[in-house]
Amino acid sequence: MTADSEFKRRTVLKAGSAAVTATLAAAPAAAAQPSSSSVDITLRVNGRDQRLTVEPRVTLLDALRERLDLTGTKKGCDRGECGACTVLVDGRRIKSCLTLAVMRQNAEITTIEGLAQGDRLHPLQAAFIRRDAFQCGGCTSGQIMSGVACIDEGHTKSADEIREWMSGNLCRCACYPNIVAAIQDAAK
Ligand code: FES
Ligand code: FES
Repeated sequence: MTADSEFKRRTVLKAGSAAVTATLAAAPAAAAQPSSSSVDITLRVNGRDQRLTVEPRVTLLDALRERLDLTGTKKGCDRGECGACTVLVDGRRIKSCLTLAVMRQNAEITTIEGLAQGDRLHPLQAAFIRRDAFQCGGCTSGQIMSGVACIDEGHTKSADEIREWMSGNLCRCACYPNIVAAIQDAAK
């Protein structure tokens, strides 16, 4: 292969990967915007009914972030692997990137924005601060929502049990010991 053809091959590959990256980055936001196939739905989020028009393929995660401006719910992997997008639906934790907004009408959805009572933090939010249970914060809202459910489910009898039932929530900063300690504190 000549230097010239190698240069062309690299240029094409580079341009192609940039185009794919740009398309993937734009896709969620575009999907969340209304189009001719959109439907009107009502989501009950943090105690308030929210009317919106979305395409049927829009995930609950994108509806929350892109349409309702509830950006406390984070998008990590967008395919059910990291838990950053965890919210409560009728009191049960789910990964909001794995469910469609249209499927969650008539449900009580709680996001991280709905946990505090005015200026009073939820006991688990306070415990996360006290126990220094985060670094970058990318996973934190998902960890807290999952931790709230973990406590409600009664899976807090030991550190091992908490680790097991929180295993769907990953932390790149490896704050796991502090997260477990915060959940143990709040469970008391
Ligand atoms: S963004 Fe939903 S599990 Fe990672
Ligand atoms: S605090 Fe950084 S990923 Fe968990």
